[in-house]
Amino acid sequence: MGKHRRFGWLAIPLFLSLPVLWAGAQGNGSPGGAPQGTPAAGPPPGLTLKFAAPSATRGEALSRSCAGCHGPAGVSTQAGVPGLAGQVPSYTRFQLAVFRAKLRPSEVMQRVAARLSDQDIADLAAYFAAQAPGPAWTADPALRARGAALFQGGDNDRNVIACAVCHGEDGRGADRQGIASVTNLAPEYGLEVLHEFRDTPRFGVPHPDAMRIALKPLSDDDLKALAAYISSMK
Ligand code: HEC
Ligand code: HEC
Repeated sequence: MGKHRRFGWLAIPLFLSLPVLWAGAQGNGSPGGAPQGTPAAGPPPGLTLKFAAPSATRGEALSRSCAGCHGPAGVSTQAGVPGLAGQVPSYTRFQLAVFRAKLRPSEVMQRVAARLSDQDIADLAAYFAAQAPGPAWTADPALRARGAALFQGGDNDRNVIACAVCHGEDGRGADRQGIASVTNLAPEYGLEVLHEFRDTPRFGVPHPDAMRIALKPLSDDDLKALAAYISSMK
């Protein structure tokens, strides 16, 4: 998988709770983004979903079409495909909304999401959130130890925030803030997504600045260590 796909997905739930970061995260004129220099007014339109109380049972039925790639019950067995089991529902909903709005790249997921209604998205998110995250992937012990130290403790000397501050010591994220669960994340996807957060310059729509800032001081080897650790947290 390439490291340099254009990457326009958003961290709006977090921005809503971190106005300071939000103020710095403006679009630059791409679809859905505000023109350069215009203050960001909030989420681009079309990303606010309308749904009744989510039904995990209905979500389970809908999820059968996802299993071929994301694994049975959302437990991925492909290192390049993220698992969905145990993901916080706000994160899953938001990612499906940004795929559907074609703001997050992925031909396959844009096609999948185009068929989903707001209610489908909410039901799927509720179903996957109720599943236990997949088992730990196998990881190199030395890499994993280095990743664990960074994730849990950060690195003061280099201005690295402990990932656990946002993602939790157990990596399970936070639904209210839209912070993703990263526990046992598929390792190749994990490494790729860390590179994207760190390396892709801002463009288009408000970017996940929380992650970009968190990852900025980190080297390629750090990212490898972190991907190894989060893929094998439990
Ligand atoms: C043909 C394979 C395929 C199918 C079918 C598929 N997905 Fe995906 N999905 C992917 C891939 C690959 C990615 C990673 C996209 C990327 O490169 O960023 C992904 C990413 C996602 C993400 C983002 C996860 C994250 O951690 O950021 C969500 C949510 C998701 N898919 C939900 C679904 C749901 C719900 C269905 C069924 C309705 C589904 N997918 C069907 C392949 C698939
Ligand atoms: C200030 C809070 C914050 C910190 C610190 C932080 N993250 Fe995140 N992280 C987030 C948010 C919010 C998201 C969801 C981004 C989005 O909506 O696009 C996220 C997303 C992710 C994802 C994507 C998950 C997926 O399924 O695609 C990974 C992997 C990740 N973070 C790992 C890390 C690691 C490793 C660190 C430490 C170096 C870290 N994060 C530090 C807030 C944070």
